[in-house]
Amino acid sequence: MANVYVLDHPLIQHKLAIMRDKATGTKEFRALVNEIAGLMCYEATRNLPTVDVDVETPICTARCKMLAGKKLAIVPILRAGLGMVDAMVDLIPSAKIGHIGLYRDPETHEPVEYYCKLPEDIGNRQVYVVDPMLATGGSAVAAIDFLKQHGCKSIIMMNIIGCPEGIKRVNEAHPDVDIYMAACDEKLNDHAYIVPGLGDAGDRIFGTK
Ligand code: PRP
Ligand code: URA
Repeated sequence: MANVYVLDHPLIQHKLAIMRDKATGTKEFRALVNEIAGLMCYEATRNLPTVDVDVETPICTARCKMLAGKKLAIVPILRAGLGMVDAMVDLIPSAKIGHIGLYRDPETHEPVEYYCKLPEDIGNRQVYVVDPMLATGGSAVAAIDFLKQHGCKSIIMMNIIGCPEGIKRVNEAHPDVDIYMAACDEKLNDHAYIVPGLGDAGDRIFGTK
């Protein structure tokens, strides 16, 4: 069974409280998504393998550590996942980026795919799927299905807010995928929105409502 990490760091929780506030406008909301994604990235990359290297400092030779192992890829689920990409690329500039476009059908709440473009060597990369919201889990499962069809073997999911229903669905379909989130909220409402949540993440990031 996969691990679920809820990142209860005070800085993350403070920023998330402001994001949830319905009075927070688009400009600030977008900045907060970015800031939280950067802080989460720090934790979600904690177990990346390193290799010892010798570095010549101005004083002497220092035994240091640098990243080793698989190269990384960041895969946002469009649209809202785009809001988490810049902060991650700032920290991991060599990462490649794939895009998976999914929207939830308003009636069935099931994901509908409309775009996909992945790095050619995605199957050899450590993949971070990013999306602020894990609600029913349908979008996350569809994205991970798709990545596995493209040969991905090592996938980590990063969400800002999740809920028990979404975690269960991802865990059942993909028990090998660890999930990092800033909060696990209480439940879904009748429209499959997370409660208390923050509303529609895509609309709040892009100002479309
Ligand atoms: C939101 C969110 C996730 C999805 C989560 O996207 O960004 O992708 O819903 O819901 P699920 O877990 O029930 O699948 P949405 O479909 O609203 O599209 P958008 O990002 O274009 O706004
Ligand atoms: N998508 C969102 O943007 N918010 C939710 O609460 C659920 C799905």
